[in-house]
Amino acid sequence: MDKNLDLEKLAVAPEELSSDLEGGRPLLVFDLRLKENFARGHVKGSVHAVCDSRAKETIMPKIPRGVRIVLIDEDGSVSSQTAGMMASYGLDAHFLRGGIKSWAGDLVSRDVHMTITPEELWRRMENNEDLVLVDVRQPEEFSDFAIPGSINIPLGDLFNNESLDKIPRGRQVVTVCPHGNRSMVAAFALARNGTEALSLSGGLAGWGQVLSPKTLARDGATVLQVEKVGKGCLSYVIGSGGEALVVDPVYPAEKYIEIARGKGLEITKVIDTHQHADHVSAARDLAGLAGAALYMSRYEQYDFESSRIGDGDVIPVGESSVRAVHTPGHTPGSLSLLLDEKYLFTGDVLFVDGIGRPDLRDRAREFAASLYDTLHGKLLVLPGDTRILPAHRGEQVPRGRGPYHSTIRAAREMEIFRLPRDAFVEKVAGMALPRPMNYEKIIGINRSRARVPVPEVADLEIGPNRCAIATA
Ligand SMILES: [Fe+2]
Repeated sequence: MDKNLDLEKLAVAPEELSSDLEGGRPLLVFDLRLKENFARGHVKGSVHAVCDSRAKETIMPKIPRGVRIVLIDEDGSVSSQTAGMMASYGLDAHFLRGGIKSWAGDLVSRDVHMTITPEELWRRMENNEDLVLVDVRQPEEFSDFAIPGSINIPLGDLFNNESLDKIPRGRQVVTVCPHGNRSMVAAFALARNGTEALSLSGGLAGWGQVLSPKTLARDGATVLQVEKVGKGCLSYVIGSGGEALVVDPVYPAEKYIEIARGKGLEITKVIDTHQHADHVSAARDLAGLAGAALYMSRYEQYDFESSRIGDGDVIPVGESSVRAVHTPGHTPGSLSLLLDEKYLFTGDVLFVDGIGRPDLRDRAREFAASLYDTLHGKLLVLPGDTRILPAHRGEQVPRGRGPYHSTIRAAREMEIFRLPRDAFVEKVAGMALPRPMNYEKIIGINRSRARVPVPEVADLEIGPNRCAIATA
């Protein structure tokens, strides 16, 4: 009885809710009914919400304290209990007395989608659709890493009108956060203010796992560049005679099998150019999934089975072949791979807009010197029309539709190559650059026998790659 009395204190009369909504009072109105009933007719400004254990753990903790919440169900029975539970967590939760049945005002009947998948977001960005990305994390999180072009309005600020004015009217809004929880609350808050927003499901972690393949047409071997768009990692599928070699695969590994099949290719070989520090290599998993041979650099330490290759070794792919060139500098064991003496897969040694950073392993001076020798002695001396296909897009390269590539002739024009050896070493070793997030852990994983559950890969990899020094 006491409990019922307490819950009654949380009840809101229909007239009160109506005047709150009309008066623009900051509040969130959640409709807990079945989705089809919500779609048939709901209170304007309310959003459909499911109150299950997942929502309790993920969405509820992200709702700012002090924001008034009103729950609606069919008759007030479930919503009162839920409001009581939410209030016990410290939220300012209420319920519509008598539920939707007591609502005498108008109902609107439109099914509103509130989420967008990372793949769909990428598709719409590639089509240059007019989107506004609103990143609802705190400024310190935003300044570390964000989807290019997004604006930052922390979730708590979405409940005041001044912040809402920063969002251009009439454009599709997508809300973004690390895992899609805060962004969901943000989409609710915006819907309440008449802005239809889609929450990026899976958040930045999901965004980081989107793979986008682009074909580089060629006689003979087919080369596909696969971009991990959230990080700018580039990997490659080289196909010839029905078989394919994959270079530097990232997660999700199974995507390469789909991409290869789409071109009538079967993956028979997988290789990493070097021990990566910015992303978890999917080479082992892909080789396992595809039943393919796994190749790794002979000059690096790996605690698992693979065929080790080194300078001058040749891997046949159908009618084509790939020759390994030992190109130390970014890492001591880095390999570049030359396909039919025309296409050069440079890993993180040479990019479209710069050179690899040599300082990830705390011996910057020594690595910078070997990077100089590699670049001048082995790569820039190749024929000028040799096409450079790097393992990263590079942070200065404008995001376009890809593929991203350059030529040895164009690379020779980079200013940094005018420096004599000593000045080059001085300059490159002296550059203090932020390191990729979790890089020591990622190197450890890439070296060892241990496997990481795939959802953890996304979390480890949040953030940009930082393997490059831009010289443009
Ligand atoms: Fe790297």
